[in-house]
Amino acid sequence: METLEAIKKRTSLKEHLSTRDVEREKIVKILEATSLAPSAMNKQPWRFIVVQGKKNVEDVVTKAFWETNQVVKKAPVLILVFVNIKENTFPDGKTFCLTDAGLAVENLLLAATDLGLVTHPMTAVSGDELKKILSIPDEMDFVIATPLAYPAEGSYEKAAQERLSQRTRKELKEMVYMNAWGKPF
Ligand SMILES: Cc1cc2nc3c(=O)[nH]c(=O)nc-3n(C[C@H](O)[C@H](O)[C@H](O)COP(=O)(O)O)c2cc1C
Repeated sequence: METLEAIKKRTSLKEHLSTRDVEREKIVKILEATSLAPSAMNKQPWRFIVVQGKKNVEDVVTKAFWETNQVVKKAPVLILVFVNIKENTFPDGKTFCLTDAGLAVENLLLAATDLGLVTHPMTAVSGDELKKILSIPDEMDFVIATPLAYPAEGSYEKAAQERLSQRTRKELKEMVYMNAWGKPF
């Protein structure tokens, strides 16, 4: 799949998760792509926890995920993303680590899409609960979670078809200006 194709096809598919396990090689491939994201001063402040196995996933989702996200209990794998915001904030208050983590997460989502796997970024999750359950150091901040799964429908295209057909985005003219704020592009 070409990069632009993966960008176009990526969509959030928490309702379309197969329980089939995801091979470790694929998870490694995705995490390696994730780690190639740019970061301010190449600090790579992101940290990931891979939760795998029916019982482990069910336990984490039941205890830490909001009701609206309970459906991801079915997933064979969860990837949880953390950064240490305090450690990565300059004395003047500037911090880039959440930007770094966002770039890494997009790599993750695109790499998974490229491999025909479904994802769904989510923050309606209790970081404090995750810390308790998974022995995460207190100074770490929860950023986002995603399930990682094969598509329930057997192919990525089938799983994504309906959601992609309903996708809405602002038009470029609503968010892009030319040469100065407010000037049409
Ligand atoms: C930072 C962030 C937090 C999100 N949190 C949730 C969430 O808790 N639950 C959920 O169902 N979707 C969540 N989403 C998914 C968005 O709703 C979704 O990306 C958006 O509607 C665009 O749809 P698409 O990803 O299919 O293009 C989150 C997405 C982002 C980027």
